[in-house]
Parts: sequence; C-alpha cells; structure tokens
Amino acid sequence: MTQHDRLLIVDFGSQVTQLIARRLRELNVYCEIHPFQNVTDAFLADFKPKAVILSGGPSSVFDEGAPMPPKTVFDLGIPVLGICYGQQVMMHILGGKVERGHSTAEYGRAFVVPNDKKSSLLEGWFEEEREQVWMSHGDHVSEIAPGFDVYGTSPNAPFAITADMNRNFFAVQFHPEVHHTPNGKKLYENFVRLAGFTGDWTMGAYREDAIAKIREQVGDKNVICGLSGGVDSSVAAVLIHEAIGDQLTCVFVDHGLLRLNEADEVVSMFRDHYNIPLIHADESDLFLGELEGVSDPEQKRKTIGRLFIDVFQKYANEIEGAEFLAQGTLYPDVIESVSFSGGPSVTIKSHHNVGGLPEKMGLKLVEPLRELFKDEVRALGRELGLPASFIGRHPFPGPGLAIRCPGEITKNKLEILRLADAVYIDQIRKHGLYDEIWQAFVAILPVRTVGVMGDGRTYDYACALRAVTSVDGMTADYYPFTHEFLGETATRIINEVQGINRVTYDITSKPPGTIEWE
Ligand code: XMP
Repeated sequence: MTQHDRLLIVDFGSQVTQLIARRLRELNVYCEIHPFQNVTDAFLADFKPKAVILSGGPSSVFDEGAPMPPKTVFDLGIPVLGICYGQQVMMHILGGKVERGHSTAEYGRAFVVPNDKKSSLLEGWFEEEREQVWMSHGDHVSEIAPGFDVYGTSPNAPFAITADMNRNFFAVQFHPEVHHTPNGKKLYENFVRLAGFTGDWTMGAYREDAIAKIREQVGDKNVICGLSGGVDSSVAAVLIHEAIGDQLTCVFVDHGLLRLNEADEVVSMFRDHYNIPLIHADESDLFLGELEGVSDPEQKRKTIGRLFIDVFQKYANEIEGAEFLAQGTLYPDVIESVSFSGGPSVTIKSHHNVGGLPEKMGLKLVEPLRELFKDEVRALGRELGLPASFIGRHPFPGPGLAIRCPGEITKNKLEILRLADAVYIDQIRKHGLYDEIWQAFVAILPVRTVGVMGDGRTYDYACALRAVTSVDGMTADYYPFTHEFLGETATRIINEVQGINRVTYDITSKPPGTIEWE
C-alpha cells in the first residue's frame, strides 16, 4: 500500500478550516484536519506530517488557556504555514509580538502589495500590482519573530505575508482559502511545492489503496451494504465489490416512496450491470401500511427510520457469515471540529439514517469513503465507471416522497406525485438546467382546487415546484427560472398528469424555509 505524503491541519476553530483541506485536496495533497487539543507530541510522531498548517480561529493568544500547538511542531524540521490566528500563534511562540486589536482590527476585503515579487513563495501570484485578500482579525502581529522577513503588506497589516525561508516557516494574516481571496490557491500551491509534496493524492491511487485496505480489513468474511441509490452508498458498493467480489451483498430497501422507475433503475444497474449480489426488499406494503393516517412530519420520519432498521436487519440476517456493514460515511461527517460556542442546537428535522445498526447487529464497519469530500466521491465514482448521469444526481432524502406529500400519504397521491415530478425533471433536463440546480422536486399539496378544463369543472390537487441552489444543503436559494419555463412546465404537468389542476412555484429560501416541505 502506498504511504502518501501527509499534511496536518491543526484546527483552532475557524469557520473555514474545511476550505483549507479542500484547496489542498484540489492540489492532490493528502491532508487531515485535527483539533488542536488532539495534536500532542505522540500524535505528531505517529502522524508523521510532511508539513503543518495552523488554521485561523476566534481566540486571542492573550486569552487564558489560549489554544496552542505543541512547541515541537517547530522543531520537526518541516514546513509550517500559519493562517490568521495561526500566524499570531507562530509569532507568539517563535519570539515575535502580538498586540490586542481595537484600531487595527480588520474585517473584510483588503489589498496586499508584494515586497519581493520574485520570491518563490509568491511565484505565479501578484501578477497585478496588488492582490485582493480576505482579512478577519482582531489582534495583530506588531513584531515578527527573528529570522522572518516581510513579503507582503496591506494598509492595515504591515505583516500580511511573512516568511523565514531558511526554516520554511510561512505566516499570513489573511485567509487564502476563501472565495474572497481569489488567487489564494497560489499560496497553497507554492507552500506544498516548497514543502516537497509530489501531488500523489489522485483518485486512481486512492482507488488502489482503498481496495487493498478493504481486502486486508475484511479477509474472507462477508459484507452487507444498504444501498439507497444515492451517490455515496453506490460508490461505496461498487468499490467494495471491486475489492472483494461476491463477498459483498447489497440490500436495497424499497419503501414504496421512491420516484418513478427508481427501483428498477437501481436494481438493473447494480444487479445486471455490475453483477453485484443484490436483495431487492420490496416492503412498500409494510411501510405504506404503517404510514396510513400519519400526517406529522417527525412521526413519518421516525416510522420510516424504525421500519428501515427492522427490514434491513431481517434481510441481513439471511446473509451467511456477514461480519461487516458497509457505510458511505464521508469526511465532513467525521471531522471533529472545535466548537467554541458549545450549547445544544435545536433539532429542526430528525434526519433518518441507519445509525445504531452496527451495534445492534454486532457488525464491524467498512467505510471506504471516510477520507473523502463529496466531490471527491463523485470523482471516485467516475474513476469506477459509474455513469455521469448517475453521479450528478440531485440528493434524495431517506424518507423519500413521504416528506414531499404534506399531510396523509395515500397510494393515489404518491402516483400523481411521481408523474408530476418526472415531468418537472424532464423539463429541467430538456432546458439544460439540471446541473445548475442542487435539488429540484415536486411536492403534492393537501388541498384540492377548482379548475376548468375543456368545458368541464375539475376538482384536483395543487402541487408546488421546488428548485434550489446550494453548496451543502445547509442554506439555499430558490432557483430563478424564467416565466416562460415555469409557464411551460405548469401547462405540461396539468396536461400530462391526471389529478393535478394547479401548479405553484415555491420561492422561499433557506432560511427561513427548509428545502423539503416537511
Ligand atoms: P432540509 O429540508 O432540512 O434539507 O432543508 C436539507 C437536505 O437534507 C435532505 N433531507 C433529508 N435527508 N433524511 C435524509 O436522508 C431526511 O429525513 C431528510 N430531510 C431532508 C434534503 O433532501 C436536502 O438535501
């Protein structure tokens, strides 16, 4: 198995630490984020980083118990980059001076001019006279540590970019990882080049390593995988199958709340195309039966979550010698971020997942995507030959159409909803908009309205179209379709779907709305 060059990001609680990791992964550098509390001498000896980045954070080095890395970080003979609070920590430890903020605090856009354009640290950067950067700091460095020189300044930050080129220590006052520092990636590029990274983190290499790891972990035992048809579980299944072949069995729980033709598509792709042993657990009668008369959204989620676990367990028990459960856990789910605010947050929706299953069933976990971000999972899917149309699919919630059918769920409503949704998505694809939208779907409303079609009166359901843009589903904006598009889509739905006579477009962003209607 290849041992990749590893970069360690020490997290001091910045809101944007994950973006540092994103920028580095884009440069084919393998990195991990760890909260500063965990970074001890023993940890460093075990992790063996080739370079370290100290993140930003909300603290002040003057705070009592201010978060600090172990001093040994600077004795390992490896390059270190300090960002914002990380810069202050570096100067504080290495013999410079930090002063409290007030008049010199800076938040937002600033412009940095270079002192030495030819420096290898600034290579390919500063092609213009000055570069826009994003500042967000209260305290500031008032004296740099011995050995450091200044490479860039801004009106309020005389030490915007500093470095000790002999020891390969670099420090910046701004945030090069954010969107508002448009050329910030150059800094990371130069940093990893100076640190000697070869860019060996590619999806091809990852695939080979992951396969070797799965084989080593699983041996000759069997693995079961709950397939939802979503990108993560699908990529995990294909990868594991490539590693251990028929020692993997997938269980696809069909709760009767899927979109038009969805179950057939999933089954034919995995069973017929990939030849992965697949159990198609058609339990729609069970789920729809238990959901009868349930109209409360949380009750729907809880019912579906409970049945899902029962059904999965029932089928999994039939698979002989299964000792492992595969899950499509991603890196953002496992990053232990530093929380300074603390305190419980309000549960808006209890998202349904299969947590708790492994303990209940005494299974060990196989999680081959644990080190990946979502877009890396997509890249791995492409590497594994999954069709592009499948990899780019919009997210679909575990409880499926149940939460797009406010009020009571009936088979009739679900059928109408499926057809309307299919027409809507077809329209979006035909207009080439699918990939611009994070998620688009129809919700069937629990009201019927009066209409007139031909010469007759109709009394049918109203539906709402939803389409949002988002980066992570946490916040979202409604998609600005043209009136022509909306008009054409409404006409098609009403003409082609019996049971709907009124179409509305939902223009609520999140917050204050949520993406799903329930
Ligand atoms: P909301 O509606 O909370 O949705 O703004 C954010 C994202 O999460 C998905 N979602 C769910 N996914 N189980 C899931 O697996 C759920 O119960 C659930 N509720 C919402 C939603 O589709 C969107 O992508």
